[in-house]
Amino acid sequence: DWTMGAYREEAVQKIREQVGDKKVICALSGGVDSSVAAVLIHEAIGDQLTCVFVDHGLLRQGEAEEVVTMFRDHYNMALIHAQEQDRFINALENVSDPETKRKTIGRLFIEVFESNANQIGDVSFLAQGTLYPDVIESVSFAGGPSVTIKSHHNVGGLPEKMGLKLVEPLRELFKDEVRALGRELGLPDHFIGRHPFPGPGLAIRCPGAITRDKLEILRKADAVYIDQIRKHGLYDEIWQAFAALLPVRTVGVMGDGRTYDYACALRAVTSVDGMTADYYPFSHDFLGETATRIINEVQGINRVTYDITSKPPGTIEWE
Ligand code: XMP
Repeated sequence: DWTMGAYREEAVQKIREQVGDKKVICALSGGVDSSVAAVLIHEAIGDQLTCVFVDHGLLRQGEAEEVVTMFRDHYNMALIHAQEQDRFINALENVSDPETKRKTIGRLFIEVFESNANQIGDVSFLAQGTLYPDVIESVSFAGGPSVTIKSHHNVGGLPEKMGLKLVEPLRELFKDEVRALGRELGLPDHFIGRHPFPGPGLAIRCPGAITRDKLEILRKADAVYIDQIRKHGLYDEIWQAFAALLPVRTVGVMGDGRTYDYACALRAVTSVDGMTADYYPFSHDFLGETATRIINEVQGINRVTYDITSKPPGTIEWE
C-alpha cells in the first residue's frame, strides 16, 4: 500500500543512486515545487546540495527573509542568498514593455545563477522541481499554438549550456501530491498552500517602468490585501490574489486636503490550472473594507479598483 512516507524513502534512495558523491545546485524560488525538491534532495545528499536564491528585489513583503530563515536556519541547507536587487532594478529602470521586462529579468536571472554556480565549482547536477504536468505539457505543446502570449521565466536552456545533468525528483507527481510530500517533509502548511507567484515577480504587477518607490507602495498594498483575505478565511478558496499598481495617479480628498496619488487594482481568481480563470466574487463589504484599509495604511495610493476580468480574455497577471 502506497504512502507518502514510502514514496519519500524511495525517492531519497533514487537521488543517492543518481548523484553519488557529486555536487548539485538548485535555483530556489520560494515556490512550492522548488522548495519541496530542495528539501527532498537535501535529505538525500545533505551538503552536496547548494541552493541559490536569486533575490531580484521583485519579491513580496517579507518573502526573502522567510525563505532564507526557513531553509538556512530551520533546514540547515547550504543556501546562497544572491542579493542582486540593484542589478535587476537598474536594468529595468526605463523598461516599460512587458516582454522586454520579462526577457531582461530572465537573462539576468540566468547570469546571476550561473556565476554563483561557477563559484561553487565542480557542480555536476541541476535540481529542478519539474512536475508530471510540466512533462506532459512540454510534449503536447509541440503541436500546439505557436503564439507566445508571455515569455516564461525559467532556467530551461541552462543544463545544456553549463553541461549539467538534471535531478528532477518530482517528475512523477501532480501538484496535490507535491503538497502532500512537502507536508511529509515538514514544510509548514501556510507555505505549502501559498498562491502561485510568477518568476518575474512584482515587475509584471507594476505596468510601465518600475521604480523602487512604486515597488515599495505595491508591496504594502499587496500585504494589506492578502491580510484581509486571510482574516476573512478566503485564502484557500482563491487560486491567486494580488495587487497591481497602476501607472496613473488620480485626484482624491483626504481630511481637508487634496491628494494626487496612484490607483491600484486588486485581482483574485479561481482556477484549476491557471490556463483559464474566473474572477472571484468578493462581497461588496469585503471590497469596501479592503479599499479603506489600503488607502488608510498605504501612503501613495488614494484609489482602489477591483479587476473583474476572467481568463480568457484577460490573463491572470497584468503583463
Ligand atoms: P497568466 O498571466 O499567463 O498566468 O494568465 C498564468 C499563471 O502563470 C503564472 N505566471 C508565471 N509563472 N513564471 C512563472 O513561474 C512566469 O514568467 C509567469 N508568468 C505568469 C501566473 O502568476 C499565473 O499563476
